[in-house]
Amino acid sequence: MSFISKITTLSKIIASNQRGWKSLVWNTSMARLNKAGPLMTPAHIAIEPTNACNAKCPVCETGKDEMLRTKGLLDRKKFELLIDKNFRSINTLMYYFMGEPFLNKNSYDMIKHARSKSIYVETCTNGDLVDAKGVLYSDINKISFQIGGMTEKSHQIYRVNSSLNKVKKNLYELIEEKKKVNNTNVQIDLGFIVMRHNENEVDEFIKWSKEIGVDTANIIDPCVRNMVEGYAYLPKDKKYWFYDEEAFEKGILKPKLIPHNNCDWIWNSMQINWDGEAVPCCRDPNGMHTLGNVFEMGLNNVFNSKKSVDFRKKILSRQKSVGICNLCSSYGLPDLQKIKPKKFVTNFDTINKSIDKDLDKIIDQQIN
Ligand SMILES: C[S@@+](CC[C@H](N)C(=O)[O-])C[C@H]1O[C@@H](n2cnc3c(N)ncnc32)[C@H](O)[C@@H]1O
Ligand code: SF4
Ligand code: SF4
Repeated sequence: MSFISKITTLSKIIASNQRGWKSLVWNTSMARLNKAGPLMTPAHIAIEPTNACNAKCPVCETGKDEMLRTKGLLDRKKFELLIDKNFRSINTLMYYFMGEPFLNKNSYDMIKHARSKSIYVETCTNGDLVDAKGVLYSDINKISFQIGGMTEKSHQIYRVNSSLNKVKKNLYELIEEKKKVNNTNVQIDLGFIVMRHNENEVDEFIKWSKEIGVDTANIIDPCVRNMVEGYAYLPKDKKYWFYDEEAFEKGILKPKLIPHNNCDWIWNSMQINWDGEAVPCCRDPNGMHTLGNVFEMGLNNVFNSKKSVDFRKKILSRQKSVGICNLCSSYGLPDLQKIKPKKFVTNFDTINKSIDKDLDKIIDQQIN
């Protein structure tokens, strides 16, 4: 980025006057100056509602039962306290990580709490357990239903244990319920995880997504963790690859773009596991680089803990030696969102608990 475009970007951030801009400018400047701290509270946080799931997607550590962390559910009280203490600095909350967010029965209430503090909240879901009224009640800004194919058969090749029919039913219900609600902030997104077995269905997906009345739709380029998964799941059409094709031919899995001693993400975001342990980013599903517990130490103390500072120092000087960075292109930061909520009006005020029994059964199988 040229000096002029850097200044233009900075001026735009400042002019936007959105919550989090000071932290974004300070923390990004520190990154540019190769300083690992001190940093201001990150503008973006991601929190894990649970690391358990009803599905068994074969690339995901949770899905393939390779999750090394204990399984559990985010505690509502601890979450609300964390939000209450820090909301003035937080612009965006990514309410998902290594499990199915709506397996946590308190998700709708926890999202609603963050929204009541004017935090922009978004989530991704496999869609099997979504309660339409709950979503509208929560006032979440964006919910992305992510499917694995256009037929039940192709969907279940990756979304193992999920049911496309159920996902579609929940999605259609949300689209219909949304029409009945005045002035909602909820945006519905639809994602298609493109893989070898479903790349022939992309056109059909795009057509369908235009017909059904979602707000946005996306084709999601697939991630894999190793060559075997690469052979099994990466599409034939290389336009969906973010991996280096030549290296792949030689048996090496690496992204086309490899960051060299930099990563804006970890200067501006924090990834929090269900039990409060923070890790640098979503590339650390198994908690190999824990940085401290935000429920015990507080968000800012963890973000500036010795472990966090040491991790950033390593990124600045020896990123190649950080295993998790070898399959990552580093992330572009999300934009600061306009978080002033529209007047929130729904014609109901409670969650439809119709799927509670399903949830109890799955929680029993996957966690207890
Ligand atoms: C680990 S999931 C957790 C959220 C939710 N359970 C879900 O699957 O949507 C987080 C994100 O990873 C995406 N994802 C899962 N497997 C993927 C893969 N192999 N390649 C790319 N994205 C994937 C999901 O669609 C979701 O957007
Ligand atoms: S639905 Fe999400 S969390 Fe569950 S196994 Fe698949 S990718 Fe992992
Ligand atoms: S894995 Fe990616 S996001 Fe995480 S620290 Fe490395 S480059 Fe940054």
